[in-house]
Amino acid sequence: MDWGIKNRLSNIIKPETGRTVMLAVDHGYFLGPTTKLENARKTIEPLLPYADALMLTRGILRTSVDPEASIPIVLRVSGGASITGKDLANEGITTSIEEAVRLNVSAVALSIFVGTDYEHQTLLNLACLVNEAQPYGIPVLAVTAVGKELGKRDVRFLSLSCRIAAELGASFVKTYYCDEFEKVVESCPVPVVIAGGPKSGTELDALKMAYDAIRKGAVGVDMGRNIWQSPCPIPMIKAVKAVVHEKASPEEAHEVFKKNK
Ligand code: 5RP
Repeated sequence: MDWGIKNRLSNIIKPETGRTVMLAVDHGYFLGPTTKLENARKTIEPLLPYADALMLTRGILRTSVDPEASIPIVLRVSGGASITGKDLANEGITTSIEEAVRLNVSAVALSIFVGTDYEHQTLLNLACLVNEAQPYGIPVLAVTAVGKELGKRDVRFLSLSCRIAAELGASFVKTYYCDEFEKVVESCPVPVVIAGGPKSGTELDALKMAYDAIRKGAVGVDMGRNIWQSPCPIPMIKAVKAVVHEKASPEEAHEVFKKNK
């Protein structure tokens, strides 16, 4: 692997543990002012000291994160659809590689929509982005998106999507947790992180999901709503970190959450 790609990846996936807690705050790119992200800076700033990387768009990066912040950036560079539009899968590349270099990012991220009318388009988006990012040593994170069809999150579909992403050159992949998740990881030759998905019933539920994902081979989480939609976001990110980096059980991590509340 190219030195620059390895170096940037090691900003995100911490060499000390081989794991990462990425904080996802890119939701507005198709959801608009998502609950608790209406004022993005207010939500993001207190969480920065605890996250290993921040996933977001250039608009929120420029307006809501100080350039002095030392957090590694994973820049979302796909978009072009909204929750009110015809099809969430109809995405293109929204941000140039020159812009990613200018913003000094550690990786660029885009969604692929396997099994949709826009499968071909979004897979070519990925392949082209890898072609463009590689010469600059910038890793590409592929997100195996499901749009509104949350029911699609099963082992067959996610294994297929993750493997295709890796085959097309993604440096790492973000997907959903599912039953038999170990099969998704085993058949994907690049590191896998999980999204948190919609806010779980309890903090403990989200911690259990993170724990199971790690136990079954994920290198970490790229979590959003289950952290910043929690009534106690800082205790929650500390608890997630305990699971990911300190091998805490869900119950031990839940104690971390309760103690920091
Ligand atoms: C949307 C994304 C989000 O960043 C992702 O879903 C992570 O956030 P959450 O944990 O809230 O699901 O990539 O396509």
